[in-house]
Amino acid sequence: MSFKTQPKGFATKSIHAGQDPEQWKCNAVIPLISLSTTFKQDGPGEHRGYEYSRSGNPTRNVLEECLAALDNAKYGLTFSSGLGATTVVLTMLNAGDHIIMGDDVYGGTNRLIRQVASRLGLSASFVDPTNLDGLRNAFKPETKLVWIESPTNPLIKIADIKAISNICRQVGDHITLAVDNTFLTSYFQRPLELGADLVCYSLTKYMNGHTDVVMGGITMNSEKLYEKLKFLQNAVGIVPSPFDCYQVNRSLKTLALRMEQHQKNAIAVAKFLESHSFVEKVLHPALPSHPQHKIALQQTYGYSGVFSFYIKGELKHSTAFLKALKIFTLAESLGGYESLAELPSVMTHASVPAEDRKTLGISDALIRLSVGLEDAEDLINDLKLALEIAEKA
Ligand SMILES: Cc1ncc(COP(=O)(O)O)c(C=O)c1O
Repeated sequence: MSFKTQPKGFATKSIHAGQDPEQWKCNAVIPLISLSTTFKQDGPGEHRGYEYSRSGNPTRNVLEECLAALDNAKYGLTFSSGLGATTVVLTMLNAGDHIIMGDDVYGGTNRLIRQVASRLGLSASFVDPTNLDGLRNAFKPETKLVWIESPTNPLIKIADIKAISNICRQVGDHITLAVDNTFLTSYFQRPLELGADLVCYSLTKYMNGHTDVVMGGITMNSEKLYEKLKFLQNAVGIVPSPFDCYQVNRSLKTLALRMEQHQKNAIAVAKFLESHSFVEKVLHPALPSHPQHKIALQQTYGYSGVFSFYIKGELKHSTAFLKALKIFTLAESLGGYESLAELPSVMTHASVPAEDRKTLGISDALIRLSVGLEDAEDLINDLKLALEIAEKA
């Protein structure tokens, strides 16, 4: 098994990009937290790059530059949550426009499209992003946006981003391909290199990695898209706080280290689960048993700590398992240094219509793990004991 080789320089960029001490009068090595909401002007309309903190903030700027550098992108923007970033992408569209959306996306994204965007005159088709013919056939004359996650959530399917980008290019330049890269981060996957137009993040997850900030981000190369989104960032006003920007910027300094360890721990846990008699199936792209294992190896630099598995049994077994865990915490979210476990059917994906959950395979036996940075042996023992208890339920 080997993923794409990570080119040198990622960790250096995460520590230095956007952080130049010379940008501050005091030469601060660590970026300042600029809390001022407004900035003195030298004359009416004559400012030094900042006027009002919603339209631009020095601490936010540092983070946005660093995020762009990590994706080898020209531009980066941040928002007050991952869904806030998605909302701003949607506000690029006009009533009557159509979206093609992965059918297995974060439940909140699904809810935003079905319950909010639909009221504003946007329509959407939900398609399996691993079925390229189905995706191709979903285009309509009014399609403007294709939004996918890879891996998908919670079923961990891998979409061929380059192939999807080629389809979008064939349809025309009016199609924007957005890839939600929350699960892999810019360390393990850089969708712009594969032909995406926008890379969207819930920075709340691995990019911050410490479970103490809610934030979203977008990176891109197109100046046209950047100008549009920068305007909307200010016009819609979904901006993060300078303090939170400071925290995420700090967390990025250890992203490479953290992701390597998440990967190691998760592979050890996945292999253990795959060998366990009370586990039906493990959905982890680094395992040869994963249906898109080859695509994962071709398009990514590695794999993170989040994956799913089916326990043998039903709701009472998965409930007993989740309640018995001692080191894994039963909680929504993912990507922090602490290990989490959850039941998508009643937690993160409860807002997905029951019929769709059934078709997709989000059953009550499907458990999603976010493997953290604890010692792998402790995590495996925790799962082993909980599986023993679940088996007797
Ligand atoms: C893949 C993915 N995208 C977007 C979001 C939304 O991000 P936030 O919770 O920061 O609004 C989430 C949240 O869980 C997510 O998992």
